Amino acid sequence: MRILKPIFIVFFMTVLSNAYSQKINTEKDIQLIPKPKQLVIRQGKFQFSNETKFVVNGDSQKEIASVLIHKFETAAGFRPEISSKIPKKNFIQFKVDATLNKEAYLLDVNEKNITITAKGNAGFIYGLESIRQLLPEAIESKSIITSAKWEIPNLTITDEPRFQWRGLMLDLSRHFFDKNYVIETIDRLAMLKMNVLHLHLVDDQGWRIEIKKYPKLTEVGAWRVDQENAAWNARLVTNPDEKGTYGGFLTQEELKEIVKYAAAKNIEIIPEIEMPAHVSSAIAAYPELACFNQRIGVPSGGLWPITDIYCAGKETTFEFLQNVIDEVITIFPSKYIHIGGDEATKTNWDKCPNCQKRMKDNGLKDAHELQSYFVKRMEKYINSKGKKIIGWDEILEGGLAPEATVMSWRGTKGGTEAAKQGHDVIMSPESPCYFNFYQGPQNEEPLAFDAYNPLNKVYEFDPVVDTMTPQEAGHVLGGQANLWAEHITNPKASEYMIFPRLAALSEVLWSSKENRNWNNFTSRLPSLLKRYDYLGINYAKSAYLVTASAVADLDKKVINVTLKNEFQNPDIRYVLGDKSIDHQAIKYVNPIPFKETTVLKASLFQNDKPIGKTFTDTIVFHKGFGHKVNYLTPYSESYKGDGPFGMVNTIRGSKNFHDGQWQAWLVNDMEIIVDLEKVQSIEKVTIGTLESQGAGIYFPTQIKVLVSNDSINYKEVGKIMRPFAVNVNSELKEFKINFEKRDVRFVKVIATNLKKSPRGDSSWLFVDEILVN
Ligand code: ACM
Ligand code: ZN
Repeated sequence: MRILKPIFIVFFMTVLSNAYSQKINTEKDIQLIPKPKQLVIRQGKFQFSNETKFVVNGDSQKEIASVLIHKFETAAGFRPEISSKIPKKNFIQFKVDATLNKEAYLLDVNEKNITITAKGNAGFIYGLESIRQLLPEAIESKSIITSAKWEIPNLTITDEPRFQWRGLMLDLSRHFFDKNYVIETIDRLAMLKMNVLHLHLVDDQGWRIEIKKYPKLTEVGAWRVDQENAAWNARLVTNPDEKGTYGGFLTQEELKEIVKYAAAKNIEIIPEIEMPAHVSSAIAAYPELACFNQRIGVPSGGLWPITDIYCAGKETTFEFLQNVIDEVITIFPSKYIHIGGDEATKTNWDKCPNCQKRMKDNGLKDAHELQSYFVKRMEKYINSKGKKIIGWDEILEGGLAPEATVMSWRGTKGGTEAAKQGHDVIMSPESPCYFNFYQGPQNEEPLAFDAYNPLNKVYEFDPVVDTMTPQEAGHVLGGQANLWAEHITNPKASEYMIFPRLAALSEVLWSSKENRNWNNFTSRLPSLLKRYDYLGINYAKSAYLVTASAVADLDKKVINVTLKNEFQNPDIRYVLGDKSIDHQAIKYVNPIPFKETTVLKASLFQNDKPIGKTFTDTIVFHKGFGHKVNYLTPYSESYKGDGPFGMVNTIRGSKNFHDGQWQAWLVNDMEIIVDLEKVQSIEKVTIGTLESQGAGIYFPTQIKVLVSNDSINYKEVGKIMRPFAVNVNSELKEFKINFEKRDVRFVKVIATNLKKSPRGDSSWLFVDEILVN
């Protein structure tokens, strides 16, 4: 009996220590994005060390392996070696299997070795990217991390993409981004197994590619008068004689370097050379390219409609474009050249004798057919060079060029129609593929295009439209995110809009539909975000935000606030007053009723801890709440707010001026009376306003408050003057007018509209709310 006890203890300890060292591998340990096609997890692991060898064949395999080797060197402090011989154990081997699809790979991991089997480089690159994501997040560290275990679980992954086109477009024209940022973006695309980077190199606001035959394209066209301090759409028309100082361009050498770097990561660079519109920069450089040789400056900002376009009648336009294409194809080996084709306002073509002659000579019945002639003629030239064209979906109008691939941006309709006609299609509908749209509530986000593409919406996208036949679906090459850069002024801002939405899109384009699930994706996302932290990528945390919407019950004088999040059944918790969000926060279940001024804080919780930014709002009650408002100047039918009580419902308009709270006046002043319905003692009136100069919304230039007891005789109690000032942001502002305490019943507020913007446009005045205290 006495010896039994120690034996039992030893046995128990053995079990324990085994359990500790032999951690059971489960699917939770595998957080790959995009999700692989098939995964079999086994027990055990492969351990990386300075003894680990990469067995490669030839220089390109060596280059592929060196990416991961470099990561070990930087983050782990040891350097696996390259070898051409197979050691006994502890090695990663590349195996060729010519029967596999081009981008497919098979990853087999056991204690002794790792094998990546693929047809060629694309599969080897993706196999290594998967190993990278199977390693601890610390592999992305830029300094040595000693605490990490450099091991990956034994498993077999069989993987290949659903779509062959998995793209991102960067707009280098609206704001210029240099070679370094493009190279960084290529790394980040590869990490998500994306394979296309479309560079938008030509647009009105800047020509960004060196063309040796036409030096003025970059001497003149790459530079604009700097109006970066003003909102994009509020910028003034530039004088062609004023020298541009904002801009830049990529030389042919730089572009070739980018192409080479991308190719080593299985990424194709697609150049976009816009025509016939979005080319003011070219016309600023060479006015003879336009119908009337008009001299224009490179626009500094928003331009609409786009009427300064290439003349479709002059032969010299085509000579110019063919010469440009000749240089473009020496830089980009891609199968495709994107020729744009979008948003041409063809009023000049209707007036130009050369364009009219062209139409007559070719039996073209309208300007759409002339554009179709233009595109078809350029297609023929580009085809003769062994390349194919891509155009935005406008190229369908007036008849599609015979070999053209359509990039569908105005929804999926153009793409669907093109596929019906037997053309290849790339789906990049604005909703949800335009990453210049907001991804979270506008109050919390940097200024963006005024529409909404949150992470969840991107994840739920599918490039194949339900109504397509299998044959039509077969024409869908894939999809693409587009980041237009009107509001994107620097790399950090660009990263913010791209990540993590690109991760969601990568899974849409790589993984099968059946293999995709939002909840499962969001469980894998935090690991990727930790990697982005190590890499210093300024990704958005918007998906983790809580948003609130309020409904006023004017009879009961109650505001009911609903809290929401992008996640299904989110664990949202909140506190009231000056408490902080912690484990004592209340779990949100139903709308929260408010009867008095209260601070509300809310956060998403994961594992009983708050994550993301804390949502904070003060629900402000005031003496005007729910009382009658008399409008001496009526608000616009387009912005009616919450109706006749909208100005005094305590729910505040946000930076999203379509949020249904704002009342607005076009050119007119606002003149309204709040009837407190009985005499009340007041000393302050606060007027909430919005300015978004890009949207034509301006702060009032003056606000006056008057009070009365009989609604006939008013006495002015305060006035604020606020002269116009250039403002690049969208901004909420409260104008506060304090006065000596008075007993009054009627409060009249007069807000003066700017009336005309410096650009000459009619201005809007937006108001919500009028708080009386
Ligand atoms: C586009 O957004 N004009 C293609
Ligand atoms: Zn013309």
